[in-house]
Amino acid sequence: MFRIYRPYDFPDEIDPAIRRELKRLGVKFEPELHGETDAIVCLLATKVDGALLARVPKLRIVSNVAVGVDNVDVPACTERGVVVTNTPDVLTEATADLAWSLLLAAARRVPEAERYVRSGKWAKWDWTALRGADVHGRTLGILGAGRIGQATGHRAVGFSMQVLYTSRQRRLLFEHTTQARRVDFKALLRQSDFLSIHVPLTKETRHLIGAKELAMMKPGAILINTARGPILDEASLAKALKSGKLAAAGLDVFEREPKIHPDLLKLDNVVLLPHIGSATESTRRKMVETALRNCIAALKGEVPPNGVNAHALNLT
Ligand code: DGY
Repeated sequence: MFRIYRPYDFPDEIDPAIRRELKRLGVKFEPELHGETDAIVCLLATKVDGALLARVPKLRIVSNVAVGVDNVDVPACTERGVVVTNTPDVLTEATADLAWSLLLAAARRVPEAERYVRSGKWAKWDWTALRGADVHGRTLGILGAGRIGQATGHRAVGFSMQVLYTSRQRRLLFEHTTQARRVDFKALLRQSDFLSIHVPLTKETRHLIGAKELAMMKPGAILINTARGPILDEASLAKALKSGKLAAAGLDVFEREPKIHPDLLKLDNVVLLPHIGSATESTRRKMVETALRNCIAALKGEVPPNGVNAHALNLT
């Protein structure tokens, strides 16, 4: 019998083959963590740190139902021989769609316009009202051209945009299909009309965009963040939006979720969403299925498909 700590319920219908395998293995899902726990299947609100790991000596796997693993102390898991897995690929397109929802909404002031209509203030058609920014033909900067960054860049082709990107490696196929150009971080900041953040949150990327970087951006640029909140210094962003240095921003993630910086809440030129990048019915189901497949593999002593520390544990 295997005991899996699952602090949340996942109400989705999942692949019957996965259900059968869980039954065959004698898996028991439990809402409490204890000394006999074999596996953890969790969301990003569960902090898996040294203190938690010390309570679960038999733990084999932390299966995060997310692509980002910044809620997990991966080196501490590696030290204890615990494999950490994530759910890449299945959420790429949904998250890129949401980045574009924010981009278009921020550029064309969609939420502000909607609030205006609902307020009952719309008395006559107004030539000057709610003018936003053009999207087509402009320059989209992708900060971090991993899977989601590239999927976001692909969508720009339909808007005849020029795509710039930063990435540790050159992305030749991406360049071929989008005519994207790899540039350095400063050039990305200076040349992008729209800047979309797609790097993971690490020690190096925390506050990667602060007052200095915002000052380097084009006047009137628009910033989109669907990655992780702490990559952006929210207080500095609020100042840049208030001063008009940036025309707008679209944020799905925040420094202290679910708390939003009070200065951002006062501004009309920022679109605020409650971290819903992967929130489609089918994506959420596939994320749970991927996490359970990772978990089953680890419990069977196999190499899980999405081990983020598999290399460090010599599992590849
Ligand atoms: C992730 O997967 O990292 C998202 O932020 C949550 O779906």
